[in-house]
Amino acid sequence: TGALAGKHMLVTAGPTHEPIDPVRYIANRSSGKQGFAIAAAAARMGARVTLVAGPVTLPTPPGVTRVDVESAREMAAAVAAALPADVAVMVAAVADWRVATEAGQKLKKDGSGAVPPLHLTENPDILARLGASPERPRLLVGFAAETENVVTHAKAKLARKGADWIVANDVSGDVMGGHLNAVHIVRAEGVESLPEMPKDAVAAALVERIADALS
Ligand code: C5P
Repeated sequence: TGALAGKHMLVTAGPTHEPIDPVRYIANRSSGKQGFAIAAAAARMGARVTLVAGPVTLPTPPGVTRVDVESAREMAAAVAAALPADVAVMVAAVADWRVATEAGQKLKKDGSGAVPPLHLTENPDILARLGASPERPRLLVGFAAETENVVTHAKAKLARKGADWIVANDVSGDVMGGHLNAVHIVRAEGVESLPEMPKDAVAAALVERIADALS
């Protein structure tokens, strides 16, 4: 059980919150459960684990170093600060877009019925940056939450992000927030589909494969 002893694993998990003004934000339904389960499984196998977590209400798994962040840009900075790592597993549901200019004060209704425009801008792609970085971990694993053509989209993502594996899951049901998950592990060599199982079991299966790949 110390198959990951001496290895540093970096995990991102949870959603990000993208501020609109001091009291409002854009978010998504990610609970962080799958990423936290992966961090826990890796720590149990002896890895040193850094877990960069978006805003979630989950306890820190035993033996895991946790860094809490809110926004995608904070997550990107925390990931960069945690390097080098032997393996990175990017499970976070990072917001693709943020509000271009966060209002310094709470947006107010002015009584005229006018609606404030929300101009969005693209967030940094943390996984793709890591894929292209000189500090790229030896094994880079991304996730792909899709609601259709799950494996096809994951294969495209493998190349686009410079990842070694993409773990694809269909989130059209109640995967986000739920405790079950059915994933397809997509590698250049082929696809391994696992049956639906608890997120803890998905984590154990994935971390076992990671230990094999690093040994
Ligand atoms: O492109 P898409 O968001 O579907 O890619 C999902 C994968 O990319 C996940 O591993 C996610 O953690 C990562 N990602 C990221 N930074 C972003 C967007 C996605 O690290 N801004």
